Amino acid sequence: MKTRLSPPSRQSLDPIEIASRDEIGDLQLRRLRRSVRHAYDNVAHYREKCVAADAHPDQIRTLDDLRRFPFTTKEDLRLTYPFGMFATPMESIVRIHASSGTTGRSTVVGYTRADIDAWAGLVARSIRAAGGGPGHKIQVAYGYGLFTGGLGAHYGAERLGCAVIPISGGQTEKQVQLIADLQPDLIMVTPSYMLVILDEMRAQGIDPARCSLKAGIFGAEPWTTSMRGEIERRLDFDALDIYGLSEVMGPGVASECIETKDGPTLWEDHFLVEIIDPATGAAVPDGEEGELVITTLSKEALPVIRYRTRDLTRLLPPTARSFRRLGRITGRSDDMLIIRGVNVFPSQIEAQLLKDDALSAHYQLEINRVGPLDEMTVNVEMRPDVFLDALAMKAVAATVRHHIKGNVGISTTVRVLEPNSLPRSLGKAKRVIDNRPKD
Ligand code: DLL
Repeated sequence: MKTRLSPPSRQSLDPIEIASRDEIGDLQLRRLRRSVRHAYDNVAHYREKCVAADAHPDQIRTLDDLRRFPFTTKEDLRLTYPFGMFATPMESIVRIHASSGTTGRSTVVGYTRADIDAWAGLVARSIRAAGGGPGHKIQVAYGYGLFTGGLGAHYGAERLGCAVIPISGGQTEKQVQLIADLQPDLIMVTPSYMLVILDEMRAQGIDPARCSLKAGIFGAEPWTTSMRGEIERRLDFDALDIYGLSEVMGPGVASECIETKDGPTLWEDHFLVEIIDPATGAAVPDGEEGELVITTLSKEALPVIRYRTRDLTRLLPPTARSFRRLGRITGRSDDMLIIRGVNVFPSQIEAQLLKDDALSAHYQLEINRVGPLDEMTVNVEMRPDVFLDALAMKAVAATVRHHIKGNVGISTTVRVLEPNSLPRSLGKAKRVIDNRPKD
């Protein structure tokens, strides 16, 4: 058994992490007024939307008054590409990132020095929540570059006083060598790329359960509780969930606490969150699922008011801190597949695949239109340590098909493949190949 990391002491937390809900609410209201005023005064595009909706910053007396204000969407960032939503002049901008637009143009985001400083502080808080601290070595295997993962993690780890190993994504053999030689305590990486690193460890004859890693901080893509179980089992360590998005900041909007591991704690001193019904935009009560909407409370360069994340989740009551938590992200509303009238998220299929000990977590869903009907093929690899003959593979496929039909409600074709048949990603995994004609 490895020794695990310990939760941070109460004295090491920022006082606001354990403040009363009233204190948090007061701080939020003060910051909200300033943030909305800042966006209104300095972002012409947002001001026009406010004027059209008859909303003015002076109307904010309580946190609920935010509901009068129009949403911000990715479309607003596209319309004003590249810098139209920036609220401060270029002289104040010290960093630019961009999110890889899967559809259309990417969106560009900017940071002032104070924004970078606040971001580093929140990522440092996130790593501390995972049990990290000075003296720990952290391998950062999120991509460095325009993606916010690498540099976001890096600045936070340095701020906390950890020794950063900035390898970025890729060079999988080297990742494994560095883990063996430099003995990092933590790794920050996408869950799907962690699986690739695990396979490489195996190929090199290294037992992951005996490596130096004591915890991993995973995010940037949806992953299920079953995937957490799989990663924790193979590494004999704690796998924590970190959430964020470029338009709002990057990693570190919310992150999980090691003492409870019950969903990412939202850093509510910097973000005001709402859950809405994605179809109507109406508020949904805490505990019920809907679309996460985020308002930044402290950002200078790119304040976003009521940003529609498209991420589907729930708000949960505080546990390890005074802040509320996010439930697991089921998926993005744009990732939802409609197969013969049934709404399906890739994460639901993932949960079914991981029930079978013979299967790895490397999978890809292929959607085709056959005649008038949509058909899903689930391609999934066997575990490298499992040897099955053709008949046994067929039997596994039939069981999985049965589980998917019973639990998700759709008929699929399941293909069990040899290890290493599916493409690997060095960052976010591409889970869906949709071959249907775009009509
Ligand atoms: O993925 C920022 C990030 C980097 C977060 C590293 C965590 C770790 P984007 O590329 O803009 O930014 O993608 C943001 O990724 O809206 C979610 O759909 C998804 N996502 C991020 N974290 C999680 C998570 C970064 N923990 C989009 N669980 C978000 C599920 C996540 N989905």
